[in-house]
Amino acid sequence: MPMIENEEKITRALLVSVDTGSFDAESSLAELEELVKSAGAEPVVCVLQKLPRPESATFVGSGKLEEIRSLCAMQEIDLIVADSELSPTQIKHIEDYTDVRVIDRTTLILDIFALRARSREGKLQVELAQLKYLLPRLTGKGVEMSRLGGGIGTRGPGETKMETDRRHIRRRMETLREELREVEKHRHMLRRRRQKDGVITCAIVGYTNAGKSTLMNTLTDAGVLAQDKLFATLDPTSRALKLPSGVSVMLIDTVGLVRRLPHHLVEAFRSTLEEAAQSDIIINLCDASGEEARMHLDVTNELLTSLGCGDRPIITVLNKCDLLDRQLMPQEFEACVKISAKTGEGIDRLLDAIEKNLPVRMRHVSLLIPFADAGVVSDIRAKGTLISEQYTAEGVRVEAVADEALYARLLPYSIERSHHGNDSQY
Ligand code: GTP
Repeated sequence: MPMIENEEKITRALLVSVDTGSFDAESSLAELEELVKSAGAEPVVCVLQKLPRPESATFVGSGKLEEIRSLCAMQEIDLIVADSELSPTQIKHIEDYTDVRVIDRTTLILDIFALRARSREGKLQVELAQLKYLLPRLTGKGVEMSRLGGGIGTRGPGETKMETDRRHIRRRMETLREELREVEKHRHMLRRRRQKDGVITCAIVGYTNAGKSTLMNTLTDAGVLAQDKLFATLDPTSRALKLPSGVSVMLIDTVGLVRRLPHHLVEAFRSTLEEAAQSDIIINLCDASGEEARMHLDVTNELLTSLGCGDRPIITVLNKCDLLDRQLMPQEFEACVKISAKTGEGIDRLLDAIEKNLPVRMRHVSLLIPFADAGVVSDIRAKGTLISEQYTAEGVRVEAVADEALYARLLPYSIERSHHGNDSQY
């Protein structure tokens, strides 16, 4: 049962959206429902109104507002969540009319981010984003802050800071920016060290709830928090994964994407996505059991391209296939790697796909070396990783991992491995 921290009773929420035709209001509202659950509240009822634009004072029309007021009374609603950004005036009017607390989509997302942030960088980014959002909304006496306290939409910068004035908030934002610069510097340094050491990185990107953390667990037994709540992952979390060939790669779990992510949040979390964009291999993971699988894959691919990873191998992976009847799988998904991170089905195919996409600087090779050239085996021992050697009538059969230079020299001895053939499964 979802519970809100520090409250005995589960918050009952009414969700409201104005459909202006500028975005898919119904899917967005469905996602808002998931977000509300993710924050630990219960979405009880949804209200959707078609309007050319939201009412400037009350967001919805007066008739709708009346309907919302009676729904709130009948259904014992504690919280109204709007599926758009609201102005302080709109919030005040709806609250005055319904006598129920009102928050908007951005506040909700920030709230979840605040709950989920694990690394220092993530926490700093969330606090900065919350303050940035709050600052222009601090009207006159700072009235808006007084209604914040306990429960959903209120976590974050903390009560004491909430009571401070604008100047204090600006000062705090400056400190946060400075700290972030330090943390980022440190992260860049770590990345440079990884590059220098030739560590191969593989990032898992995808929408919230696609199963990224579960896949990390299945792949590495990393123990990364996995739960049926959106945004379980806010910070990139790295774990080492040893492939069957013996090559180790660093897996990076990334923040889940969400539709209509407010612009300043995209900016705030760009750094974590940039980390993914720098990876050698990218896994675009998608929940195949969801109706919007195609759209999610497209949005993620678009984002990856905009971050400049068009030249990197992207492995498209459909997750949660245990929930699907394979016969009914659309033709367009034929080329994807199909797995269930939960049952482990298809994980071998995914590992194989990662191996095939390893950058040439670290490549698995199968060789047959004639006895006359046996010196090559010592070369591999010295400069690469010798996984196995077997003496046969024709020569030494070797499985090895080689960097670019060694690989070039070993090519003449290369033989095709049966389970790593050229026929792509993805
Ligand atoms: P965020 O951190 O919010 O971005 O989510 P995530 O992509 O890391 O998803 P997570 O691994 O937390 O999984 C979300 C939910 O999907 C959890 O309840 C998982 O148990 C479930 N799940 C993940 N993989 C599978 C799968 O292969 N099959 C089924 N049936 N459920 C799965």
